[in-house]
Amino acid sequence: MNDLKRMEDFYAQKDKQAWSIFGCYPFFLDCKQTYIMRKILEHKAKDNNRLLDIGAGEGNFILKMISFGFIPKNITAIEYLKDRANVLRKKLSDIKIIRDDFLNVELDNSYDVITIMAVLTSITDNEIRYRLFEKSLTYLSSGGVLVLYDYFDDNEIFITQDYRAVSLQKIELLAKNYKIQTYKRVYIKSKYAKGLCMIGLQSLIPLLESLKIFNDKYHFIVITNEK
Ligand SMILES: C[S@@+](CC[C@H](N)C(=O)[O-])C[C@H]1O[C@@H](n2cnc3c(N)ncnc32)[C@H](O)[C@@H]1O
Repeated sequence: MNDLKRMEDFYAQKDKQAWSIFGCYPFFLDCKQTYIMRKILEHKAKDNNRLLDIGAGEGNFILKMISFGFIPKNITAIEYLKDRANVLRKKLSDIKIIRDDFLNVELDNSYDVITIMAVLTSITDNEIRYRLFEKSLTYLSSGGVLVLYDYFDDNEIFITQDYRAVSLQKIELLAKNYKIQTYKRVYIKSKYAKGLCMIGLQSLIPLLESLKIFNDKYHFIVITNEK
């Protein structure tokens, strides 16, 4: 089965399920992601920058970027899955939405901010996902930043049959002509976070996270085009 077909079947099931029964856990992840993205983008002008979100899902991340000051008409979202693209259209009527495989898309613009959030892990075919990453770099404007958020492990382990870790070494090699900064191991392992949330001790999460030893291999990678 090809990777896009596998993904289609997987998300068709997944989108029917509530993804967490522990209410505070998704909230906690969201606050943390917002905090890190703010930090990454603090020196970027938001009001006239062009943003490209590849594998936009249902647009939650784009809503966050709009709350940071990005302007809908400057935002392009690419999403392969039809159902998810439809949700995007309903939620975000003012942005440009392209329903297609990014590898088939030709864009006219370059972008000041490109985001690829939790997308590469969900493409388990190595050839395809690194090709997607390389292609995304070609749309980065001079001075632009590309932000990758994913689960990294150089052994490219299968986390489940639908998710495969990304190799940081490979990303560094493919982006060797760019400046690369990493925010490593930014999240505590979800089993600890969920456990703490269940017993009402979620306030301990930031403390445990700062120790890093309980953290998972989720990294934010910031790639800047200095050319
Ligand atoms: C785990 S979801 C992440 C969604 C969103 N970025 C977020 O953080 O909420 C991965 C998304 O990437 C999309 N995707 C994967 N490969 C793609 C491709 N080649 N072209 C466009 N979208 C793709 C999938 O359809 C899926 O919606």
